[in-house]
Amino acid sequence: MTTDTRASLTITRPDDWHVHVRDGQALHAVVGHTAAQFGRALIMPNLRTPVTTVAQAQAYGARIRAAVPAGLAFEPLMALYLTDNLDPSEIHRARKTQDAGTGARVVALKLYPAGATTNSDAGVTDLRKTYKALEAMQREGLLLLVHGEVTSPEVDLFDREAVFIDRQLIPLRRDFPGLRIVFEHITTREAAQYVNEAGPLTAATITAHHLLYNRNAIFSGGIRPHYYCLPVLKREAHRLALVQAATSANPRFFLGTDSAPHPAHLKEHASGCAGCYTAFAALEMYAEAFDAVGALNRLEAFASFHGADFYGLPRNQGSACLQRQAWVAPESFAFGEARLKPLRAGETLGWKLQ
Ligand code: DOR
Ligand code: ZN
Repeated sequence: MTTDTRASLTITRPDDWHVHVRDGQALHAVVGHTAAQFGRALIMPNLRTPVTTVAQAQAYGARIRAAVPAGLAFEPLMALYLTDNLDPSEIHRARKTQDAGTGARVVALKLYPAGATTNSDAGVTDLRKTYKALEAMQREGLLLLVHGEVTSPEVDLFDREAVFIDRQLIPLRRDFPGLRIVFEHITTREAAQYVNEAGPLTAATITAHHLLYNRNAIFSGGIRPHYYCLPVLKREAHRLALVQAATSANPRFFLGTDSAPHPAHLKEHASGCAGCYTAFAALEMYAEAFDAVGALNRLEAFASFHGADFYGLPRNQGSACLQRQAWVAPESFAFGEARLKPLRAGETLGWKLQ
């Protein structure tokens, strides 16, 4: 039902509030894509050795800056990986990084329930073990970013996000009413509804792939590993609820790609890795999703305003211009010794970032 036929769309330079750029050669392969699209990005800390200290986060931030191609103005914002025994004094050190001139800014901590996803083995086994850290975060004004899935093997994979809300998020929200929480990469109607009805300190990121696809994409014409991510794609009714939330102008929904590169041979594998690589054309994919429901005029706030406002950071200067223009996505990118196959490899996209 596209009724908006504009040929181009110019928005304030956006931010990506959830991205994986890895480290080493992989970092060099992907960070230019993110830096070309976004003014800032919140970098996930789930490296093979998780980023659990401010010193590690700042060193990682410096490696990211060094890997950004010359001429791109880009700021990596850092998150620490929350563990059962994180020293609450790290929280105070993290807050101090937000003072000017102290290197990469650490603005949040990421909660991975142990075993929920890629490199989450060091994650949290019991939320109560983190309560001292959460108290310090609430006091210091650091955000909690939540991978919202229970890990209990008896819970159906497709229900793990909805069950997480009842078992973990509602009690957490009650126990820390002053903590700013981002429910990351939401995938269900239940999550969108929870955030809609929550107060001003609860927000959510939404990926482009969860706006564009439902779970049929993983199985159409054979198993399609490049559509496999966590939380897994859900039914069409859930996709529609996410599109509704993203395009609703509610400031507590904002852009987070969860672009998550893996070597192609580890995705096309008997036990394939979770993650969709979208950073190379993230804005184009979001534009497609918003355009499909006639909501291009809502893209700027979702991509460029709501996240910055929720994090209490200034909105970016500068702009990004998207043209309505057909182009074919690359089949793959170099990725160290391996190849990286993006979402939409070899397919035509209808928008192009200038
Ligand atoms: O699909 C995903 N990939 N989901 C996550 O939660 C982690 C990410 C990754 O790091 O590969
Ligand atoms: Zn992620």
